[in-house]
Amino acid sequence: MEAKNHSCDINDKSSCSSSTPQQEEINYKSHWDDTYANSPTEKLGWFETDLSPTLDLLNKTNLNKSARILNVGAGSSTLIDKLIVDGYTNIIASDISKTSLDHLETRLDHQSKMVEFIVDDLTKPTELLKIEPVDLWIDRAVLHFFNKSEEQDAYFELLKKTIKNGGYAILAEYNQDGATKCAGLPVHRYSKEMLQKKLGKGFKLVDNFNYVYTMPHGDLRPYIYTLFRKD
Ligand SMILES: C[S@@+](CC[C@H](N)C(=O)[O-])C[C@H]1O[C@@H](n2cnc3c(N)ncnc32)[C@H](O)[C@@H]1O
Repeated sequence: MEAKNHSCDINDKSSCSSSTPQQEEINYKSHWDDTYANSPTEKLGWFETDLSPTLDLLNKTNLNKSARILNVGAGSSTLIDKLIVDGYTNIIASDISKTSLDHLETRLDHQSKMVEFIVDDLTKPTELLKIEPVDLWIDRAVLHFFNKSEEQDAYFELLKKTIKNGGYAILAEYNQDGATKCAGLPVHRYSKEMLQKKLGKGFKLVDNFNYVYTMPHGDLRPYIYTLFRKD
């Protein structure tokens, strides 16, 4: 199968963080379903073989194996496989793309019964509004796709409502040196200060680091990884 529509173009400065007329017309659900339908997971521009940046932050939470973990925008990420192998028993994988979650469910095979799958849009949530609070919210490379302030506000409102007091958020997004586009879409790049401002005083920064991710075809993508605790 030919991979397409999944590159992260660091040189494309034409589309920055503000929305464009073209962007208004994009059907994001179809965009992401098509992206996953047209590429095997390991060829996607965000496919990871080294999950250690997220796992290092997860280890800092000292959460037990029955902790309720919500991976938003999980796609077909192998992070879910790793969480199962590591003994976590209360995992939710959510995404706007049903196709991506179908790929994940198929790959997990019988272990998929260990995971709750929820198709929902983080910027217009309906199903995620109904779930019980979680101990950990994990977002790698999702928030940075939300360029409009109303999309960001909806995301952070959901995050704040969904994480238990004493719970955590791992947010890993393109940093200020990062690419301006990913998967054919413009991205909004973050610093830890920008994330702190969005989260507000109810969240304390526990740890953070810059990390340069190497894409499957070798290009580099700088991220900011952050761990926040909800007090
Ligand atoms: C770059 S991929 C990252 C996937 C995964 N987190 C990983 O690290 O492999 C971005 C993911 O965000 C999902 N996504 C994009 N917009 C979304 C939205 N509005 N609501 C929920 N998921 C969304 C996409 O379908 C895709 O799976």
